[in-house]
Amino acid sequence: MTAYEFELGLASRKLIRDIMDVQPGETVALTADTLSSEAVVNATARAVFEAGAKPLVIWVSTPLGVGKAADPYLPQKALIGALNNVDVWIEFNYQWLLYSTVFDRVIAENKDLRYICLVGMNPDMMIRTLGRVEIKTLAQFLKKVAEITMKGKRVRITTPAGTNVEFENHPQRPPIVHSGYIPKGTYGMLPGQISWTPKLETINGTIVFDGSVYPPIGLLRDPIKLTIERGRIVKIEGGKDAQEFEGWLRSFNDPNMYQMAHISYGFNPGARLTGDIVEDERVWGATEWGIGNIGPRLVPDIPGGVPASSHTDGICLNSSVWIDDLQITDRGKVINPPELVELAQKVKG
Ligand SMILES: [Fe+2]
Repeated sequence: MTAYEFELGLASRKLIRDIMDVQPGETVALTADTLSSEAVVNATARAVFEAGAKPLVIWVSTPLGVGKAADPYLPQKALIGALNNVDVWIEFNYQWLLYSTVFDRVIAENKDLRYICLVGMNPDMMIRTLGRVEIKTLAQFLKKVAEITMKGKRVRITTPAGTNVEFENHPQRPPIVHSGYIPKGTYGMLPGQISWTPKLETINGTIVFDGSVYPPIGLLRDPIKLTIERGRIVKIEGGKDAQEFEGWLRSFNDPNMYQMAHISYGFNPGARLTGDIVEDERVWGATEWGIGNIGPRLVPDIPGGVPASSHTDGICLNSSVWIDDLQITDRGKVINPPELVELAQKVKG
């Protein structure tokens, strides 16, 4: 028997019914590569069939890179042809198709598609981040967090590891809330994350990554301390990991690789720090900083976004967050306002 064989039934049912809202007669594509979990794919295909819909499972060999770097390894024409003709696409690939040419084409051409990115999903992660989560309550909580955050002008974040950073929100950059609500023509991620791009030139202070940074590292052996001035990294300090990170940024020879791109809250009650960035960036009470390329969805006021050679994300665990004068979290625990505390308790169970 595979791990969590029984429990995967409920987790995949939540995915198919509560999140993707699969209707009888719809075609649902599940894509996977040879490093994807067969147990996860099969359980999900069963849930699709059980919902009266038609599962279409597509396995490919594992590309040697992700996104555009995966392009040369993929049967692109065949994938585009198939995925342009489905109602729902669930991506379980390990080396992801997200932001590949196949993804870009399908998102642009299949106007009514509902897509969710669940790259690298395994049975253990699926049980913790979906199976045991009340998706609707989590969505209410996330909506409230986003609302409170965007009502404020200034945000300050500190962590026990030494983060102490401030910035101002930009009124024309609404947060992207990954809450498990994916209407037609949109794409979503694993629920439990909120991302937004502040006024870049107002980001100042110290950011200490003490969870993981990917690419290029994964789980950190020792913290990486960044000094930020007017939204850009001006100093990197720490041990071996900091050296590796600095070398990686430098290797692009691109000044925009030192540009802060977004801040995110992690709020999935089941997420653990495992080194898998999809899960790490959802650890409850963590904050995450994106660095490098800024996609147009984050900065609707800047047509085309802010291009850079690559993008990386780093995790700051146990964050304390102030929105103007209101402290909403203390070392990762939701403490204000009372209605948010109540929702957090419901979500955490
Ligand atoms: Fe990011």
